Amino acid sequence: MKSDNIVLVGFMGTGKSTIAKLLAKQLAWTLVDTDDLVEQKQGRTISELFQTRGESYFRKVESDVLREVMAEKRQIVATGGGSVLLPENRRYMLDNGFVVALTADEDTIIRRVRHDKSRPLLQGGVEEKVGKLLAERKHVYNFADISMDTSFSNFDEMVQQIMDARVQWIQDANVHDS
Ligand code: S3P
Repeated sequence: MKSDNIVLVGFMGTGKSTIAKLLAKQLAWTLVDTDDLVEQKQGRTISELFQTRGESYFRKVESDVLREVMAEKRQIVATGGGSVLLPENRRYMLDNGFVVALTADEDTIIRRVRHDKSRPLLQGGVEEKVGKLLAERKHVYNFADISMDTSFSNFDEMVQQIMDARVQWIQDANVHDS
């Protein structure tokens, strides 16, 4: 059911991991990070996987991980920024979780990811790569149940807003069902 999990989607550097940690603590739910699970499952870092097996292999493992995760309950799921690209992944998320898209403006994203060496898609020219990928992925996060801009917000306040929005969503769904 949708009320079983909260799923955070969004471009790299939009704050998914940080907000997921805070949400998991508040709700006392399990924190799950699909990037971490991919690495554990494969025994390699994401960078190594991209280098040795390529992006499409990574996307396949990511999708398998996501399907397994979405079968469980009471979790805050932080997803990788490209996990929304496959339609079946969007379905797993929407069917089994309240999906929150986090956004941020380009400058904020660049500031947050500039020194990161663990994201293969951004190596060798962060500004240019962020700009290009953001343009390519302009609408891919629109499928989410709600969307929130994290550029200038206080993360603790955002956590509260997400929890409130979820409760509101459950109430609205109950009204429609009855
Ligand atoms: C990716 C985002 C990364 C990670 C991989 C690919 C993407 O996750 O899954 O490097 O395609 O946007 P974060 O969004 O957690 O950085």
